[in-house]
Amino acid sequence: MSDYDDLAARIRALCHGETDEVALMATVACELHHSDDRFDWTGFYRVVGPDLLKIGPYQGGHGCLVIPFSRGVCGAAARTRQVQIVPDVEAFPGHIACSSSTRSEIVLPVLGQDGRLIGVLDIDSDRPDAFDARDAAALGAILEEVFGGT
Ligand code: SME
Repeated sequence: MSDYDDLAARIRALCHGETDEVALMATVACELHHSDDRFDWTGFYRVVGPDLLKIGPYQGGHGCLVIPFSRGVCGAAARTRQVQIVPDVEAFPGHIACSSSTRSEIVLPVLGQDGRLIGVLDIDSDRPDAFDARDAAALGAILEEVFGGT
């Protein structure tokens, strides 16, 4: 289980002064992924066009390269700009299975300055029901601090 205070402090120190979004995503993905045994795939999809996400920096096995806003949990998070917590991926209509071992996931919208949607953070777990509101709050706070969204 993450010590989110510790993690947030480490990410704050590492990202201090950096504004490049890909550099920030790479650093956050790495720090998150290694902080918690529940996290089996940790990474970002970036908004690259109207209603279109493409793979960004990640840790874990390969992720699919392109996700339209109309598809999957990542698409739902991008479309609604709401955190998606999926306790059982098999019960989520349209879930995109990149790894057959994934059982549950959390996807958060990533907002940049001016409230612009710059992407989503996707964390997949091989454990069922791995994520709850505490994860959503702590991860959301980290994203807000790093990417400056309000
Ligand atoms: N869980 C995602 C896609 C997974 S990956 O490509 C790592 C979804 O259904 O949006």
